[in-house]
Amino acid sequence: MYDTKLPCAPKEHIIPRDPHHIPAGPRHVAIIMDGNGRWATQRGRPRLFGHHAGARRVREIVETCPDIGVEYLTIFAFSTENWKRTQVEVAGLMSLFRRYITRETRALDDYGVCVRFIGDRVRLDRKLRVLMDDLEALTANNTRVHLTIALNYGGRDEVARATKRLAEDVADGRLAPQDVDEETLPKYLDTYVLPDPDLVIRTSGEARISNFLLWQSAYAEYEFVDTLWPDFSREEFTRLCTAYGARDRRYGGVKA
Ligand code: FPP
Repeated sequence: MYDTKLPCAPKEHIIPRDPHHIPAGPRHVAIIMDGNGRWATQRGRPRLFGHHAGARRVREIVETCPDIGVEYLTIFAFSTENWKRTQVEVAGLMSLFRRYITRETRALDDYGVCVRFIGDRVRLDRKLRVLMDDLEALTANNTRVHLTIALNYGGRDEVARATKRLAEDVADGRLAPQDVDEETLPKYLDTYVLPDPDLVIRTSGEARISNFLLWQSAYAEYEFVDTLWPDFSREEFTRLCTAYGARDRRYGGVKA
């Protein structure tokens, strides 16, 4: 039988939307924050300068969410492939994440943001992991915005880790092979407490998804915009979410 004490608890505790008050905009927006390096290069500065500018953008976008009905925001901060960057850039990004958490904790909590991290934490340094755990614990009961930060995250890696845990449950007799279906696997993903994204935005003009939320975005709408992440504004975010409201999502069916 399925053990709810495992990290793969069912999705039932995602609070359903009030059916009498469903905004037209997306409930869950995921963002690939791309273009920090080019933004810095255009200014003759080192790439890390762009990452710092990018980190400063995050707060404005988080704070826009409640105004436009976005309940869940998921941002791609560091991928499993980003370790291939220079040692200087990787170390600089890790230091930035530690500083970001330390500096933003108060503001995030005061604003009512519930912060979660997805990705494989094993490769992250202990100090960063402790900061992540503490921020998650501190903000666990907040409900105004659910901010998920993907850190050392890769969609394929996530599915592989999930499959490993699922296989362990089968081997230990907690799950029967015939009960494995497309409702079961997502319970083992890092995102098991999140609804699937409705809208995925990528900045910087690249039109690819780079291993981000592969399973979860099966029916998402996509927006690829030319703006480099450090220039991405509240206005552009609002415009994209409003445009989403005008789209006709059929999930493979036909309109009644
Ligand atoms: C991609 O731009 C961006 C990253 C790999 C890092 C994203 C990190 C941040 C926006 C800042 C930190 C965020 C948090 C939540 C603390 P790129 O470097 O690939 O840009 P390029 O394509 O122009 O080179």
